[in-house]
Amino acid sequence: MSSYSVFSHIPVADPNTGAKLFSDFNRDSHRDKVFLAGKEYVGEGGRSALLPLIRKIKQQMNSDPTLNPEYLPSLGLPHFTRRASELALGKDSRAILENRVIGVQVVGGSGAVRLGAELLKCRYGDGSSWRGPVLLPSPFDESLSWIFKAAGVGDVQCYHYWDGEQRGVCVGKMMEDLEKAPEQSVVVLSVVGHWPTGSDLSQGEWKHVVEVLGTRRLLPFFLLRAQGLCSGEPEEDAWPLRYAVAQGLELLCAQSFSHNFGLYGERVGHLLCVLKENDNLLAVQSQAEKLVQALWAHPPLEGARVVTTVLSNPAHLVEWLDGLKGIAERCMVMRERLREKLRLLGGTWEHLVKSRGLYCCIGLTVQQVAFLARKRHVYLLPEGCLNVSAINSRNLDYVAESIHLALTSHI
Ligand SMILES: Cc1ncc(COP(=O)(O)O)c(C=O)c1O
Repeated sequence: MSSYSVFSHIPVADPNTGAKLFSDFNRDSHRDKVFLAGKEYVGEGGRSALLPLIRKIKQQMNSDPTLNPEYLPSLGLPHFTRRASELALGKDSRAILENRVIGVQVVGGSGAVRLGAELLKCRYGDGSSWRGPVLLPSPFDESLSWIFKAAGVGDVQCYHYWDGEQRGVCVGKMMEDLEKAPEQSVVVLSVVGHWPTGSDLSQGEWKHVVEVLGTRRLLPFFLLRAQGLCSGEPEEDAWPLRYAVAQGLELLCAQSFSHNFGLYGERVGHLLCVLKENDNLLAVQSQAEKLVQALWAHPPLEGARVVTTVLSNPAHLVEWLDGLKGIAERCMVMRERLREKLRLLGGTWEHLVKSRGLYCCIGLTVQQVAFLARKRHVYLLPEGCLNVSAINSRNLDYVAESIHLALTSHI
């Protein structure tokens, strides 16, 4: 038989930054090594942590003989899509009451971005000609740009978002970029807990952004990835999205239930499409259904059942909200403790407590980040962005001393 293989000339793909750092970390045998570059919520015990409520519901489901294996409809579990839409937009949202919201259960928040990108191609392209631009906040998650490109959207650009020198969002530059973006550009916006910086816009800044989106006829594609984990209140975290809907904007929103339910492996996500009018609802819904059938046919069942059970039961809801508050508070405490340790070692670190949620950016050079990995076995993302939940009582002193060393050594 011939040794020819169709795959013999395929080049090895570059891993994404997070995967590369994780593989470096796994190969590192130093006993004090610390991985701060992951996305998952990590509890005080040093592992990704599941809320007791979610564990209990999963166990109950596993032993419930009435729950049979079944395919879900392509658009998902109807109860789930209703609850997910209400969680994002509010139960009394006018858009929901006027029946101009389409919700599709998808494979994680990443699946929501993919389906949204495919839908945009139907909307703008009259087939296949629309290729963007899609504008991503810089720095952004590489996988976002890959998802849009894989969907055939070739023109993916970025707009200014984080300024390392100011250690905050550079709203002025961001507004300039939005003002000059071509009409009908798609603008990807993190609703809350921006990855990897944890820096968000204030309500006043959001009002300005929403105004520009409306006047420049730009389409917002919101990412709602950790609703409830920033302020501890899902309603407060969703404010920018709800405000944009209340101002009459048409928009897409990718919701993820990975962080706020600890359902990383179950792949629970939701794509929201808020339309201007109800007239187009059936057409968009039918296109979404067709696209899902071509992408993954049916969404996964178990995680959506867990989320629906929690969101439909008032007692569960109270317990879940308490759990979210606990996580948000723990992240804030770790920020404060890191700020304090670093302050005692020298410098001003107020920006650490100005951002919220799982991520923050201390602002380091490429050399300082490399020094931390090589000499101190502490793994951070570029610019010194890190997952604060991965700091705990055991590694706090070591992390703070390492950051101080990176800043004060002649590298
Ligand atoms: C901060 C953050 N959270 C979550 C995700 C992925 O969400 P999901 O697990 O719902 O696909 C991403 C996407 O890459 C992300 O950047």
